[in-house]
Amino acid sequence: MKFGHFDDVNKEYVITAPDTPLPWINYLGNEDFFTILSNTCGGYSFYRDARLRRLTRYRYNNCPLDSEGFHIYIKDGNIIWNPGWQPVKTPLDSYCCRHGLGYSVISGEKNGLSAKQEFLVPMGNNCLLMRVTCENKSCISKRFSLFPYLEFCLWDALDDSSNFQRNYSTGEVEVSGNAIYHKTEYRERRNHYAVFWANRDPAGFDTSRDSFIGTYGSPAVPDAVISGCCKNSVAHGWQPIAAQQFDITLGPGEAYSLIFGLGYIENSDDDKWEEPGIINKAQARRMISEYDSDEAFSRAFNDLRDYWERLLSNYRISSSVEKLDRMVNIWNQYQCMVTFNMSRSASYFESGMGRGMGFRDSCQDLFGFVHMIPERARERILDIASTQLPDGSAYHQYQPLTKKGNLAVGSGFNDDPLWLIAGTDAYLRETGDWSILNESVDFDNDASLAQPLIEHLRRSFSFTASHLGPHGLPLIGRADWNDCLNLNCFSEHPGESFQITGANEGPVAESVFIAGMFVKYGKAWVDILRHMKLDSEAAEAEAAVLSMEKTVLEHGWDGEWFRRAYDAFGHVVGGRECDEGQIFLEPQGMCVMAGIGKDSGEAEKALESVQKYLDTKYGVVLLTPAYTRYRLELGEISSYPPGYKENAGIFCHNNPWITCAETVLGHGNRAFETYSRICPSYTEDISDIHRTEPYVYSQMIAGKDAAGFGEAKNSWLTGTAAWTFLSISQAILGIKPTLDGLLIDPCIPADCKGYSVSRRYRGAVYNITVKNPASVEYGIKEIRLNGDICHGNLLPVLPPGETVDVQVIMGA
Ligand code: BGC
Repeated sequence: MKFGHFDDVNKEYVITAPDTPLPWINYLGNEDFFTILSNTCGGYSFYRDARLRRLTRYRYNNCPLDSEGFHIYIKDGNIIWNPGWQPVKTPLDSYCCRHGLGYSVISGEKNGLSAKQEFLVPMGNNCLLMRVTCENKSCISKRFSLFPYLEFCLWDALDDSSNFQRNYSTGEVEVSGNAIYHKTEYRERRNHYAVFWANRDPAGFDTSRDSFIGTYGSPAVPDAVISGCCKNSVAHGWQPIAAQQFDITLGPGEAYSLIFGLGYIENSDDDKWEEPGIINKAQARRMISEYDSDEAFSRAFNDLRDYWERLLSNYRISSSVEKLDRMVNIWNQYQCMVTFNMSRSASYFESGMGRGMGFRDSCQDLFGFVHMIPERARERILDIASTQLPDGSAYHQYQPLTKKGNLAVGSGFNDDPLWLIAGTDAYLRETGDWSILNESVDFDNDASLAQPLIEHLRRSFSFTASHLGPHGLPLIGRADWNDCLNLNCFSEHPGESFQITGANEGPVAESVFIAGMFVKYGKAWVDILRHMKLDSEAAEAEAAVLSMEKTVLEHGWDGEWFRRAYDAFGHVVGGRECDEGQIFLEPQGMCVMAGIGKDSGEAEKALESVQKYLDTKYGVVLLTPAYTRYRLELGEISSYPPGYKENAGIFCHNNPWITCAETVLGHGNRAFETYSRICPSYTEDISDIHRTEPYVYSQMIAGKDAAGFGEAKNSWLTGTAAWTFLSISQAILGIKPTLDGLLIDPCIPADCKGYSVSRRYRGAVYNITVKNPASVEYGIKEIRLNGDICHGNLLPVLPPGETVDVQVIMGA
């Protein structure tokens, strides 16, 4: 069952029923100011950091669900309604939400009056804009009132939701003209405030929630709207809000528009005040005047569209398969941008208070983003690297506002260091910008420890190489990619964090997965060193990689698949002798991607086992059989009920590892099968089962052991976005950036007759057409570059600005 449809021409998902199975959200903002917006106008805004600079309130886990946001109320006679349906929930005569790239348009109609809310965060300014257009579609004149309403957050979202003894006394606002200024704590250590404004004069306003909503009221029945009259309240403490009232009369067929804004302003310390106690509003006034007309709003809208058009033109496919094209050209790339911006910090499942930027997460996010804005990827790599610890290990996360490592979330996740090599390698392959390796980068944000970036990669590599366990496999530390496989934790007390409890690193517990990573990204490191002409170091690194490959085959191979780990007692995790958790997905994907056992048959066998034991109709589960009881020696993974999250859920993040692995072996049919099984546009028809947004990936779909098999959770902020983009754009469609040029290496379903891709690479445009007349899954017969036969399948790097035609014929 569906609740909307894709509109590919406008690059939108169109939601036609407001009561979707869960709130279906969009992300507005591409730079520093962000808004999360649901299809019923729920959500919140923040500047850079959803925890430390939250502008508006949002209550997760609330009941009714998703009732705070950017609502407008319309009082038309005795009927009160919202164009987005929530929070009043008056049945609408029509409703539509169009989530587009960086904007959303939500419209409703009731009794001949229509109202449309257009939301966007303009490029180059720290504000959310909302244009409201009302039209009288009836044949009689209408007089009605319109009330925008939002609730301010007192900046630090965690403190705001817990420290009431202080916060109920600190709230402060100023009202001036059409604008309401939220200035809590500006009198002391803050130099920023928020401003809500309208481009027309309101008939009234409220800034105290008690006045507008009523102390015992609710957003579904606000006092001021029921009575039809704002009270011009000025908040002192308690809950500051911004609400205004507009009384509008429209003749039949007439329309009326209003532009609202919510801005974030910073003043320098010596320029904070206009007069004592009155904040300096000069910047806010400039912001307000920039968007005071319909023309200005439309210009901002067009700029945003142009921005996205440019970004998406770097990789564009045209096949005859519309489900594929819309994911590759629009939604997958869009989600990659969102994960790049947010890492795992703020969504409808991530509260913005718990997690910041993940070290490993942000490195992986680069895979799907670096081709869009390489300059920002460069900056991100340097930010991440500067949180790295001097011995090569890493803080697991850092706060986006401070860009400093956050010890509260721990360190000692021993896969982290290698992801820095992976992310930097992706950047080098995309850009050829070797200068990044010479950039001086702090260790642990301490300038006195700064070293060139290449030294950071070196320490990443040698950290893994020098932290090996009894079998010669890498020590796992707190966990590896699987945050929940905590082999040194032994937590017995409820509430203890699995990520920071117990020894940082035991002497024994080892990870086959990290070993696979070491081989895969160790090879990349060797290539980088060779390119830098550091030949003897390259030879040494290569020897370490080859030796790890042998170790994996010796101690990590179980007979039919790769083992997962050895626990703190030296027992196998993910092997035949285990009563539960016999086979895990991650080492099969990573080891085969690394090429381990490719020539000797283990790789082939491992992927057969994935299909035999881990496949389900909704995707590949993480492990089987699921753990049915808590196991002290395994940690969080066994804390989840069977089928959920890392305990045998369909963890979408690593399904594309299987897709990529299948292409390493030339299995195009199977690669596309695993790709399409979790692909949102392919699963849109089961939106009632999945429940999350059908235009983006979710982190997890409940596995076969779960009561809710097929139900997805944690949409949007997941490494699935970057990895699936990599799996489709590079592994399947076969357009692979390398250090020396663009490699053409497709691995596709045999019944695919061909496709074209336009790829901008290092400034040149490659128009590539792939034809598959012999219905093969893998292999190239001929490549022509501007009509001339190409020797080999590596296309040269071309001068920026050049456009070439590339004809590829697949076959034996
Ligand atoms: C985390 C990832 C982790 C994955 C598997 C996600 O929630 O953000 O860093 O690899 O879970 O545990």
